[in-house]
Amino acid sequence: MYIKPATERPSIDTGLSNNNLQIPVIDLGRLAEGVVECRATMKAISDACREWGFFQVVNHGVSLELMARMREIWRAFFHLPMEKKQLYANSPKTYEGYGSRLGVDKAAILDWGDYFYLHLLPNSIKNIDKWPSLPTSCRETIEEYGNELVKLCGLLMKVMSISLGLDVGYLQEAFGGEEVGACMRVNYYPKCPQPELTLGLSSHSDPGGITVLLADDQVKGLQVRKGDNWVTVQPAPNAFIVNMGDQIQVLSNAMYKSVEHRVITNAKEERISIAFFYNPKCDLLLGPARQLVTPDRPPLYDSMTFNEYRLYIRKKGPRGKTQVESLKAA
Ligand code: OGA
Ligand code: NI
Repeated sequence: MYIKPATERPSIDTGLSNNNLQIPVIDLGRLAEGVVECRATMKAISDACREWGFFQVVNHGVSLELMARMREIWRAFFHLPMEKKQLYANSPKTYEGYGSRLGVDKAAILDWGDYFYLHLLPNSIKNIDKWPSLPTSCRETIEEYGNELVKLCGLLMKVMSISLGLDVGYLQEAFGGEEVGACMRVNYYPKCPQPELTLGLSSHSDPGGITVLLADDQVKGLQVRKGDNWVTVQPAPNAFIVNMGDQIQVLSNAMYKSVEHRVITNAKEERISIAFFYNPKCDLLLGPARQLVTPDRPPLYDSMTFNEYRLYIRKKGPRGKTQVESLKAA
């Protein structure tokens, strides 16, 4: 059930690794230092968004203690006995809760991982009763973490708007202002006896706006596509990994890319990651920013709501970048 077709398997390490290549690490603390530092930071983010679709941030303002606490509670949750976790079992249709299958296609080959998916915003769909009540203070920690990450994403949205040459509030406005969406997917990848045959998470691009990943600080696993290669991300100490989702690619008329990524497993250690997704309000029409459409650069995408887009993806499960590609204007 987990064995991928030969073309999708992680290539066995040939010794010819691309370890010299790494996604950029950007110090957000420099934004407060002065005009010159601020410009340099914007440029670094702009370059990273164009070339990689991924970067890491340090000095991001989120408390390290809170990051550690998040990792701890989720590790404790996934270590609970199965019958406790099953109390939160999701249906592949709603996706909310504890599960392992993505998409409703029964024939799909499974990924070697479990996840917990929950909604943080808007408040109308946030349902704390569906969040784990164990370990103790789990819910409070998730809430506190969610609030901090909403702030961080607000800052990233401003920086990205400016670096695209748009008004500082452009992206936030386009996402619905105060009415943005936010959700979280916590991933648990157990040890895998035959990591060369499967994936922890199949190749995909994230459908939403911005993803902020709190990766395992000990165990690597995330790989980012760079041309024909997969680059294994080396998490920087105390950093978050940030990547652009499909909606940023659409809004920026493909100036910024939502890049394919996947997760490999290993036989020695389990791995936990916490992905926070900052998304547009789900019923707003979203298309390329007018300022980024020129005679040389016609609109690459038709407008669509995030709801329509997500529905389309959930039917199919993770499939590389086929979804944003299929959105291309005729
Ligand atoms: C995701 C994702 C990466 C990881 O949840 O969308 O890409 O390292 N996770 O678990
Ligand atoms: Ni992802």
